[in-house]
Amino acid sequence: MCGIVGAVGINNPREYAINGLKMLEYRGYDSAGIGFLTDKINIFKDIGSPSRLDEILPTTFNTELIIGHTRWATHGTPSKINSHPHLSCNRKITLVHNGVIDNANELRTFLLSQGYTFYSDTDTEVVVNLLEYFYLSSKDMHTSLKLLEDQLEGSYALAIINEDYPDSLFMLKKGSPLMIGKGKGFNLIASDASPMAKYTNEFIDLEDYDFGYISKNEIRIFDKNNNLVNRKSIIKDAESITHDLKGYPHYMLKEIEEIDEVVKRTISIYHEDNEYQFDNKLLKELKEADHVMFLGCGTSYHASLVGGRILENCNNIPTTEYIASEWAYHPVMPSKKPFAILISQSGETADLIHCLKIIKEKNVPTLLITNTAGSTLSRGCTYTVLLHAGVEVSVASTKAYAAQVALLALLSGALNKNDKMVIDLKATIDVINSIKNNLKKHIEKIAEEIKDNEHVFFLGRSFDYFLSLEASLKLKEISYIHSEAYPGGELKHGPIALISEGLPVIIFITDPNTANSMRSNVEEVKSRGAKVYIVSTKSLSKKGDALVVDDYAYFLSGVAISSIAFYLAYYVSLKKGYNVDKPRNLAKSVTVE
Ligand code: M6R
Repeated sequence: MCGIVGAVGINNPREYAINGLKMLEYRGYDSAGIGFLTDKINIFKDIGSPSRLDEILPTTFNTELIIGHTRWATHGTPSKINSHPHLSCNRKITLVHNGVIDNANELRTFLLSQGYTFYSDTDTEVVVNLLEYFYLSSKDMHTSLKLLEDQLEGSYALAIINEDYPDSLFMLKKGSPLMIGKGKGFNLIASDASPMAKYTNEFIDLEDYDFGYISKNEIRIFDKNNNLVNRKSIIKDAESITHDLKGYPHYMLKEIEEIDEVVKRTISIYHEDNEYQFDNKLLKELKEADHVMFLGCGTSYHASLVGGRILENCNNIPTTEYIASEWAYHPVMPSKKPFAILISQSGETADLIHCLKIIKEKNVPTLLITNTAGSTLSRGCTYTVLLHAGVEVSVASTKAYAAQVALLALLSGALNKNDKMVIDLKATIDVINSIKNNLKKHIEKIAEEIKDNEHVFFLGRSFDYFLSLEASLKLKEISYIHSEAYPGGELKHGPIALISEGLPVIIFITDPNTANSMRSNVEEVKSRGAKVYIVSTKSLSKKGDALVVDDYAYFLSGVAISSIAFYLAYYVSLKKGYNVDKPRNLAKSVTVE
């Protein structure tokens, strides 16, 4: 959601801050701002993208200390006054914030009673004034930060400038990501490594309750118990963290077209030298479990539906897949000895962080499947298995979904030592490539035909239903068309009432177990006037099917043909003239509940 950058002692602070915020745009934004210290605190902010800052900031200025922010509104509408940085009442402290302060109202009431005035609707302005309140009495930032931390409930990553400390950039973190980039004669902070990759390859992930400061030549981090700590730094190569369109018009298209490579890479990493490469302890704990519970949100939840069904089919382990935000408020354990698999591309999803806290209290072992090494969730889970999908910039998740399904399939294969899974997965690569090379034009044509409809339906059964869910989410997410996904069998139990003349219904028929029943559904919707587009595999295809692909192991449609769903959403969004990579109201990392 919000993005933070900060620097001390960097050569071109303006360039670092603006370009850094542009790198964080993918997290979602509605406004952006920058604050820096000269003889006083200077603040420039406005609604819109970080590019707007290029217009409103002075072309040159000298400063040792700079902070910047992209805001995704939570408290208060998107507006200039609500955007960050926020200033304290005496204008001597400024900060940027990512997260949500749950007790902001109580704290605001307290500060109002102390004579404070508020100009915005944000929880962040409460934080900066509370910090000022503590600082005015303690005259010491270390003490004030600790007092602040003790009072704040909720999540926060904060980057703070105090006029009285012209050499130090202060920080405080709980629940929202914040990283330090170690430089020579300068130091940086940011929400993730991408803004800092041009300047350093050495990073420190801050842990929850860490606070302290960076100066040009020093990094001081204190933990929850107020002890000075030496957090280990990690080296990341720029290639793995920076974003580059590589000639593509949009990240989404680039990322869809990378799916074949991602699947190949996943197989080669997790099945090397003819052997599965998963931690044996992890496999043992999974085998000993009497139930595997999956938790995820959005696309990651859809991947868990596929992974869970594969695990059940191949290994006879009962599974239940939960939407994280639902389970968090009804946290029942499905059995006596469960194992929890959390799936999150970003590793920062607040709903999952909430679930993880509950699961840990119940001493259940956890595995995180993520694309982000060192993420908040990764630090909290017993095991982490990385996706290696490469950075996914487009808000619409595509290659990460295919990687999640591929990885879950490999994990199932590893559990029952079944190499056939690898053969089946390898075979999907040809299907993916043939869609890329031969079917794109046809998908684009379908996109042209459906783009002006207000509603679209997707139907499928079993694995085809899981893919329908993902196809429907993707379409609504970036084309703003209302779409529904239903299991074919549910049609007659209600949704068929909505089928009307000309309604586009996209039907997946790739599973031999359900193909016949799906063909009956085709007739049912056709006879009510629907415009039907059938996606089928060769052996199940019939004359008139819109898109026919080569056969593959039916339970791998999430890998083999998810690109059809992604291309379709992409082309519809493109043709409607929308911002494909940054759809309205959405953020790449959903770091607030
Ligand atoms: O980072 P995560 O995988 O935890 O994110 C979960 C969802 O927010 C995410 O998959 C969302 O549904 C995507 N934007 C869908 O394309």
